[in-house]
Order: sequence, then structure tokens, then C-alpha cells
Amino acid sequence: MNDKNLIIFDTTLRDGEQSPGASMDIDEKMQIAIALEELNVDIIEAGFPIASIGDFKAVQEISKVVTNSGICALARALDKDISTAAESLKDAKSPRIHTFIATSPIHMEKKLKMSPNKVLTSAVTAIELAKTFTNDVEFSPEDAGRSELKFLCEVIEAAIDAGAKTINIPDTVGYNLPHQFGDLIKNIISSVSNSDKAIFSVHCHNDLGLAVGNSLSAVMNGARQVECTINGLGERAGNAALEEIVMTVRTRQDVFKCNTKIDSKKILKCSRLVSSITGFPVQPNKAIVGKNAFAHESGIHQDGIIKSRETYEIMRAEDIGLVSNSLVLGKHSGRNAFKQKLIDLNIMPKGNSDFDNLFYKFKDLADKKHEIFDEDLINLSSNVKVSANLINFKYMNVITETNKKPHAHIKLEIDGVLEEAESTGDGAVDAAYNAIESIIKSDCKLTLYSVNNITSGTDAQGEVTVRITKNNSVFNGHGADTDIVKASVLALLNALNKFKENPETNSSKKRGI
Ligand code: KIV
Ligand code: ZN
Repeated sequence: MNDKNLIIFDTTLRDGEQSPGASMDIDEKMQIAIALEELNVDIIEAGFPIASIGDFKAVQEISKVVTNSGICALARALDKDISTAAESLKDAKSPRIHTFIATSPIHMEKKLKMSPNKVLTSAVTAIELAKTFTNDVEFSPEDAGRSELKFLCEVIEAAIDAGAKTINIPDTVGYNLPHQFGDLIKNIISSVSNSDKAIFSVHCHNDLGLAVGNSLSAVMNGARQVECTINGLGERAGNAALEEIVMTVRTRQDVFKCNTKIDSKKILKCSRLVSSITGFPVQPNKAIVGKNAFAHESGIHQDGIIKSRETYEIMRAEDIGLVSNSLVLGKHSGRNAFKQKLIDLNIMPKGNSDFDNLFYKFKDLADKKHEIFDEDLINLSSNVKVSANLINFKYMNVITETNKKPHAHIKLEIDGVLEEAESTGDGAVDAAYNAIESIIKSDCKLTLYSVNNITSGTDAQGEVTVRITKNNSVFNGHGADTDIVKASVLALLNALNKFKENPETNSSKKRGI
């Protein structure tokens, strides 16, 4: 392996999706997988195929489509997990099986109820079986961050002898501190006699807010693969954020001896896409991708920036794909200008119909809003829905008046048939939602409703995210419009379309794993 290459292993679709409420359907996973491929991620962990039919199918479909990134499937150290993972990866150009078993005393004793010896032999058997399907096998001693070093090294040595090409060291519960975790990686690499035959990887959780710090400390001590997620999505407090790892390594080339091959200009688009699909907003002050990450508010800072950018900026906004608040297009802009702007923003519609769809949405927006900013276009491109919907918005009339209950009249086209309803509610959105429910009768529960402005100003588009649930299945929906009641209606319809398409097989329905 080239020592200068830091492998980026993205697990947004697996560990990221495990965060409560972040479940995605196959179409959504496919959109993210394609965006990750465009980002130039080395390996995409596309799912945990034994966990649900949805996960299995997602890995299977992504394997058919994504060819420039390796596709990985997760499996416990169990025969059925490994053969299911292998089956889901059958069409992948570069398939990887990632198998794991816990090695910490607490996990072995309380969770697995297995002796250390049994854990070691299970790991070896699992790797040997996985090797019969693909040469690219990764092994993780789960909860390595709380395992005993001597036993951990024994298991790793046996795993490499059994054929594991990548050894991933997870800090499963986010317990480690950066200096400790760096030392752990250094000690493992120097103590394991066959460590030169594997690539060492790290997988850090963020329970103490140290996932990125721990991962980078590991890189400085010999790790050559980092497992991470877009926006740091993941179980509990999340995983290490891909964008933070990539931009730190890139910005501090004076310290790091390696670099990634990520196309950083696609970072922002990917971040918006994941946020919009999962309904997990990005906090404004989030490093790299937060709305304020490149905004300079104080007079002293602005003055410094005007005199010389480097006074207060260590990265350029353009490097992550943000062309800050520049006025771009208006309603008279033609297809060529629009196309050129998309190229500038690194937005590549797939084929003519995708482009036409986007152009149509842009024109529609330009009719309502004089100034179209880059952020509007990034948002539009993240929300293009290619396939046809069952439920389509046709008309709404919502009236709010002081001392009167808000009233909504909604018309929808469902499978080609026009249906309408009127209702009242506690507010304009509530009235509209009540009218929609009286047409659809979904019996879904609204568990999240959030509004975000895409740019500033009162004519800005409002982006609404909703989450609806029924029988443990979760469906996220998004809508954007200059009218936030309409954006709210579109968001609910988006979620209801997903519910109608797939009421039973939503991927959140894991098989109790
Ligand atoms: O956090 C963890 O330990 C994991 C493993 C499956 C790698 O996600
Ligand atoms: Zn994890």
C-alpha cells in the first residue's frame, strides 16, 4: 500500500443508518451511495445484510451500480451472516466482507457469554469462511478500545494469519482519549508480529466528542484507513465525521504524512443530501459543513478577511463546494447559463431527464424568488426525485385569521385521481396536515417537524423536514418552497409517498439485531 494514501471508508449507510430515526429506503441509500462514489470515497459500507431485507437489497442494488468505490457488507462472526453478506455482494466489482466479534472482557462475558478462546476461534473461522467469497476481508475486534492489549494482539495476529487484509480497531463506546488511542494503535502495530501484512483501520464513536481527535491520533500512529460518516451521523453521539477528517488531513499537511483522494468540492453537497434524506439537521456551527463554518460576523474578522483572507481563514469555502452567497441566476437565465452554474457547483445531473427535471424546478423557483443563490441550487439538486410519485400535490388554500381557527383546503392527485378535503387545525400547517390525513388515512404518527431557511431574507426558501412512523417503520420527507406552509405540505407528501411505496419493508425493521 502507498503509505501516503489514507483510505476513507464511509459507513454512513451502515453505522450512520443505525442512529434512531435515520433509517433510509433503498432509493435514498442509492442516492447517497452515488454521491459517495462521486466524492471518491474508497470504500462504502453499504449495510448489514443479515439485519433486514431492506439492508440486504440495498447492498445488492448498490453493488450493481457503484463501481468506482469498493462495496462492503457487515457480518457478525457467524456463518449465516457471512454467507448472506457474500450473497448481497455478488454483483459488486470490488466486494469486501467486514466481520466482527467483541474482544473486551465486558462484551465477551456479559454479551457474548463466550470464553476468550472461543472468541478467537470464532474470529478465525469467520475470516476463513469470508475468504472463500472474496479476498478482501476486514476484521474488527469490537470494543477494542476497552480490550486487554495482550488478548487483542493475539486475536489480531490470528486474524491476519487467517487472511484478513484490513484490521479495524473500533472504539465502540467512544471511551478513549486521543493520546491513549494513538498509543494503542502504535502498540498493536509494533506488537503484532505479522502487522506488516494488513492495513490498520480505526472506527471511533463520538460519545465524548473525541471521535475525530481519536481517529487522527491513530493516523499519526500508523492507521491507514479511517471509518467515518457524513456529518458524523451514527449510533448515539455518532461516528467520526468524514468531512472533518478529510479537511484536517488536507489542511495540516505539515503534520500528516498521508492524504486522501476525496474530491473535497463535493463535501457540502453530500452533507446536504445526507441531512435532507435523514432529517438530521446540521448544526450551524458544525465544523466544515455548518452554515456558519465560513461566515465571518465580527467587524475585526471581516476587516482582516478583506485585507488578507488568511488572517482568519485556514480553508477556502470553495474547497468544500461552497461559493458563498453569490448571486447566480434569475428567471430569465437560459439552459446554458444554468448548465455552466451546475458545473461550477460540481452538480452533475445524471442524464438529460435529470437535467430537465432540475431546470424545471429552477424555473419554478425563479418565478417565486428573484434571486437564486448557490445554496438554493445545491438544495434543489439534493432533492430531485427521479421516479414518479403516487400522491401528487395539486392545490392548497390555507386561511389564517385572528380569533378564527385556521382552515385548509387541499387537492391531491392520487394514482391519477383527484381527491380533496377541507379541515381546520391549531395552525396553518396543522390544518393542512389534517386535510391531507383525511384524504390519505395513513394512520402514521408525525414524530418530527422542522423548518430551516436555505438562504437569508424573507423570500428565502424554507426547507421542511418531517418524520412519520407507523409500526416501527420510519419515513422521512422533505419539501422546500418560498411558502413554508407549502413546503410543509410537500414534505409530508414526500414522506407519505415513501410510506405508500414501502409500508412493510422499510429498512428500519431490523431482524432484532
Ligand atoms: O462500533 C463498532 O464497534 C462497530 C463495529 C461493527 C465495527 O460499528
Ligand atoms: Zn460503530
